[in-house]
This record gives sequence, structure tokens and C-alpha cells, in this order.
Amino acid sequence: MQSIKANGYSVIFNDAGYNELNRIISENNYSTLFIIVDSITNEVCLPKLLPLITTESPIEIIEFEAGEINKNIETCIQIWNVLTELGADKKSLIINLGGGVVSDLGGFVASTFKRGIDFINIPTTLLAMVDASLGGKTGIDLGNLKNQIGVINNPKLVVIDSNFLETLPQIEMRSGLAEILKHGLIYDTSYWKQFLDLSKLDFADFDSIIFDSIKIKNEIVMQDPLEKGIRKALNFGHTLGHAIESYFLDNQTKNSLLHGEAIAIAMILESYISMTKKLISKDEYLEIKTTIKAIFKEVKFDKSDIHCIMDLLIHDKKNENGKIQFVLLDGIGNFIINQEVDNEVITASFEDYKL
Ligand SMILES: NC(=O)c1ccc[n+]([C@@H]2O[C@H](COP(=O)([O-])OP(=O)(O)OC[C@H]3O[C@@H](n4cnc5c(N)ncnc54)[C@H](O)[C@@H]3O)[C@@H](O)[C@H]2O)c1
Repeated sequence: MQSIKANGYSVIFNDAGYNELNRIISENNYSTLFIIVDSITNEVCLPKLLPLITTESPIEIIEFEAGEINKNIETCIQIWNVLTELGADKKSLIINLGGGVVSDLGGFVASTFKRGIDFINIPTTLLAMVDASLGGKTGIDLGNLKNQIGVINNPKLVVIDSNFLETLPQIEMRSGLAEILKHGLIYDTSYWKQFLDLSKLDFADFDSIIFDSIKIKNEIVMQDPLEKGIRKALNFGHTLGHAIESYFLDNQTKNSLLHGEAIAIAMILESYISMTKKLISKDEYLEIKTTIKAIFKEVKFDKSDIHCIMDLLIHDKKNENGKIQFVLLDGIGNFIINQEVDNEVITASFEDYKL
């Protein structure tokens, strides 16, 4: 299938992606290939990948326990130690085979080990294919603060192979769909419209849905790789979304939410805020709310939940000069960045979400 040129690397689909992977491996004559997997991708994805790699270099597998809860410094230390014990050097390559947790953490480990070694992402979740594996953001959580530590550093290549999705649970597919919906909402009305009725969507052509989503993200990132301006658009749904995700992750009495599930809720909340600022119409808001609620289960928030989530908002990396900065919709398919929002409006958005 097609390929997409990004900042200093390419995103390449299927066989052509593996050909490029093998070309890069051979051209760079890496001393060792380290494939970072989590406990699940080790079982279900690694057996699919290994026969496709042709190399004389030794291959070592490094596994950590699956789950966002492990995207932390302790896991990094374990992996840096294993790399050191196995004699990794500046000429080693890291291949991140997994979802966004693996590419975020593996990319960060690679970017910091011996001041940076090459890495390649092979995403295995829908979310990582359309979002996490692209754009160079790598990092880990600090306690319950999402992605608090990290660097922006691009992979040498991203290989997209939607065959990996065959084993991905439905709930994880839905989580990825949230970022796909976001790309439509902020950048492309007709892309968004095709998700209004999922029963009419041609899932046989999933590669093209993924391709278009990557194209949107890439077009935005290419204009602003360091997130000084337009790249902030990709944070639509993420200001409240990260706070909601952190809150559920840290709260023993609640089931944690997947990243995409938290983002889906927050896209409704931030659309409500856009409506109160007269940036989108009530009809547009209702279209967004109805579409997202038809896909994602509703989550209950009581007063104390909302209070704690507001507290977490203060720690959001996207804050500037102590002010919470939102990306809002400026009509469906357009965005506006650096918007301040009163606390009462945020609270009202949670109230309306329940209706
Ligand atoms: N760097 C970025 O730009 C960026 C963007 C969006 C999200 N993220 C990050 O991505 C993470 C979420 O990514 P995710 O949703 O991929 O989560 P994840 O990596 O935790 O994967 C979800 C689950 O699916 C399993 N899995 C992965 N591939 C599988 C497959 N093919 N078959 C069966 N199971 C499989 C994983 O083991 C895990 O249990 C969050 O930490 C988020 O902060 C980063």
C-alpha cells in the first residue's frame, strides 16, 4: 500500500514497510536488534514479525508487563539495565512492537540510552497505528501524571501492518477509533462524517481509514513538530481527557479507562465548551455527542470525581503560565488553540454529558 513521508522518516504499509525495515537494518549494519514487546504482543505479535525480519545481526527480545500502569521510570530502568547487560551499544537498534505504551516507553528508552540510539515503531493497536507511533512524542507517566516525562525524537521508520489488529480486542479497537474521530473533528469534515453511521462503514478497507488518519496527523505535525502552535490541535479532547484518564488510573475504587475511552468523553465535554463559546452550533454539538455516545459507553461522574479531575487539570503539560489552555472546535473540521475556559463551564460540560 501507500507510504507517507514524515519529518525525517517514513510511514510505510505492509510488505513495502517490511522491505524498508530490512533495508534499513542491512544498510546500518546494526550490532544487535532489540525488540521491545509487552507481555501480550510478545505472544500474539512477535511470532508474526520474526519471520519477516532478515538479518545476520543477533536479535534480543525485551519484554515488560502490559498496561499503562507500567509506562513508568521503573520499567525504563529495568530495560536500560537489560540493554547494558546484553552489551547494547550506539550501533544497536530498538524495534518497538506493540501499542502506544510500548512505542512511548520504548521510544523514550531508545532516545535516552547512551544519549540516543535508533528506533523503529511497528504499532500493533489501532490507536498506535493512527497516533502514538507517529510524530516523535515519546515518554512515560510520573505517578498518576500522564506523559509527564519525555522527549520528542523521531523513529527511523514506522511500519503499518493492519494484520496485527486481528487479535486486538474490540474494546481496544474502539479506543483507537477515538483518535480517528478526533482527526476528523479537528481537520476534515468529510472524514468525520463517515463515522456518523458505523454500520455503513466499509471495515474491509481499514487500511484506507488508517492511511487517511495518519495523513491528517502527519500534515499537522510536519507544520509544527515541536508543538509551538498548530500541533496543539491534536490535543483536542486531551486536556480534560488526560485528567480523566489519570483520575481513573489512580483511583482504586474505579475501573480504569482506556486512553481512547477517556478522550472520547473529553471530546464531548470540549465540544460542549466550544458550543458555549459559540464556536460550534448546538446541532453540531449534538451530532458529536450522539455519534460518540453510540460508540463509547457512558461513564458516571459524581461531584467529588469532577472536583478531583479539575485538580489534575492544573498539572496538565499543556498549561501555560498557570492557565489551563484548551483546544476547541471552530466548526466541525476546524480548531482554535490557546483557549481559556472558566471552571463553571467545565463543570457544566460534565453535567450536560450525563443528559
Ligand atoms: N506519543 C503519542 O503521540 C501518543 C499519542 C496517543 C496516545 N499515546 C499513548 O499511547 C498509549 C495508549 O496506547 P494503546 O491504546 O495502544 O495502549 P497499549 O499499548 O496499552 O495497548 C493496549 C492493549 O492491547 C494489547 N495489544 C497490543 N497489540 C495487540 C494486538 N495486536 N493484539 C492483541 N492485543 C494487543 C496491549 O498488550 C495492551 O494490553 C497511552 O499511554 C497514551 O498516552 C501516545
